[in-house]
Amino acid sequence: MHLVAPSLLAADFRHLDKAISFVNESEADWFHLDVMDGNFVPNISFGQFIIEQVAKDATKYLDVHLMIDEPGRYIESFAKAGAHGITVHAEATNHLHRVVQQIKAAGCKAGVALNPATPVSVLDDIIEDLDLVLIMSVNPGFGGQKFIYRSLAKIRQAYDLITVRNSPAIIEVDGGVGLQNAQKVLEAGARVLVAGSAVFKAEDPAKVVRQLKGISGNPLAMV
Ligand code: DX5
Ligand code: ZN
Repeated sequence: MHLVAPSLLAADFRHLDKAISFVNESEADWFHLDVMDGNFVPNISFGQFIIEQVAKDATKYLDVHLMIDEPGRYIESFAKAGAHGITVHAEATNHLHRVVQQIKAAGCKAGVALNPATPVSVLDDIIEDLDLVLIMSVNPGFGGQKFIYRSLAKIRQAYDLITVRNSPAIIEVDGGVGLQNAQKVLEAGARVLVAGSAVFKAEDPAKVVRQLKGISGNPLAMV
């Protein structure tokens, strides 16, 4: 079965407690938390402090997506803040292998994210070590952008690499995902759907989560 991870970035931060209870009570599986440093991406969001507050009330897995330069500097502090999984960008460090080991040593699941122009082949020498591959289907930095359709081919490539190499990694897709493309994304091999605006900007967010959970994809990708 696939997982749905609402991105809190699209929530109304004046009422963060409501957004947290909503995810807790919905059929969603994970909280997706977008950390932006204004350097790796042209936007600043939130950091360890907010994640620590979310962790106090969240009853589900905290999936932390670090869009920050040199993430190795902050792995331990995000783990301490309550992250269950930490995903770093391949483009953000010269020492991806070391950072992945750091994430695991901190007791978290390790993910690597790829920007739209970064080929899947950068994962060749690390795929066996990963718990998650995050395919960005928009340029990171902002919610509410349009899904880049080329990402479907990339999801398939990542799926093939994972299969051929017998890696335990699952594929997460992030950016512009919603009811209009979720089935295709799942069919391409994704296991986790991140949805920001599709959920939080909807009239009935719980219904959208339920619908996203109800979509059937590629049975091969869901073992
Ligand atoms: C983009 C973030 C995404 C974003 C998704 O940089 O990584 O997680 O919040 O938002 P939507 O689903 O609105 O594209
Ligand atoms: Zn994200």
